[in-house]
Amino acid sequence: MNQDAHVPVLLHPAVDALAIDSRPDGTFVDATFGRGGHSRLILERLGPNGRLIAIDRDPDAVAAALTVHDPRFTCVHARFSELQATLDALQASGVDGVLFDVGVSSPQLGDARRGFGFGVDGPLDMRMDPTRGVAAADWLERADEAEIREVISNYGEERFAKQIAKAIVAARRGGSLRRTGQLAAVVAAAVRTREPGQNPATRTFQAVRIHVNQELEELSLALPQALAVLRRSGRLAVISFHSLEDRIVKNFMRSAAHPAVPERLPLRARELPQPRMRIIGSPRKPGPAEIEVNPRARSAVLRVAEKPH
Ligand SMILES: C[S@@+](CC[C@H](N)C(=O)[O-])C[C@H]1O[C@@H](n2cnc3c(N)ncnc32)[C@H](O)[C@@H]1O
Repeated sequence: MNQDAHVPVLLHPAVDALAIDSRPDGTFVDATFGRGGHSRLILERLGPNGRLIAIDRDPDAVAAALTVHDPRFTCVHARFSELQATLDALQASGVDGVLFDVGVSSPQLGDARRGFGFGVDGPLDMRMDPTRGVAAADWLERADEAEIREVISNYGEERFAKQIAKAIVAARRGGSLRRTGQLAAVVAAAVRTREPGQNPATRTFQAVRIHVNQELEELSLALPQALAVLRRSGRLAVISFHSLEDRIVKNFMRSAAHPAVPERLPLRARELPQPRMRIIGSPRKPGPAEIEVNPRARSAVLRVAEKPH
């Protein structure tokens, strides 16, 4: 496969979920352009007066978007936690659908220079946006052992987080923790049992990446903004790849669909909090055929909700 390619996950279900056919001249947001798999299908479905605004925090993704020559399309270099400000700057205050396909792309994972992968040696960076934030090697150099352990345990759900954090702190004293290959070797030596078919560094790399990119915070900040910018009947579709992300999405949609009733009773019907979203269908996962051709899809979950009419 071309190193710069990314096979979109749940492509048709996610784009169908935006219900573009019912407002082909609406404005839609692809908050995670990547290599534009979902964006291209959205453009195919969009009418001549429709508009697609794409966002990505990775300058390489934004550069890839330059290959999309379509007057209905704009791509902005931003974090999706800046969704509202990004749309305000484009004078697009209300939108008809927002799609998030969170996590990392195959080009990010496959490019050794980005430092996401343990399979290919490179600088230990892991920032989706290398123009801001703190690289993984710099964070691992300065963080407390307890903080490292917590990140690896919480975001990687790694049983050996304590041993790994200890080994990282010992390795960095010798100044030998600047490359992905070095981190992978330190983790492999600290992990006692192996999960079949999985590199022992998988969980640690995932955890450090989630921390360095503040991925859960980004999602928590972006979802309420998506709800705020949606017009009536606008759709929110979110594909996540990790149980912690999925929990954030699930809880957000549930609490918007079933707002808490104040404890002060009795209330008149009109005083009851109104649902701010309606959940559409059940969570959707890729089938065996999709996972067979795209193993990255195996942990994906799509959730969809709609703003009430
Ligand atoms: C799984 S890929 C998206 C793939 C895309 N749907 C496609 O079909 O090519 C995730 C993309 O979202 C971007 N991304 C992740 N978190 C982001 C954030 N907080 N703000 C903006 N972009 C983000 C990543 O840089 C990456 O390019």
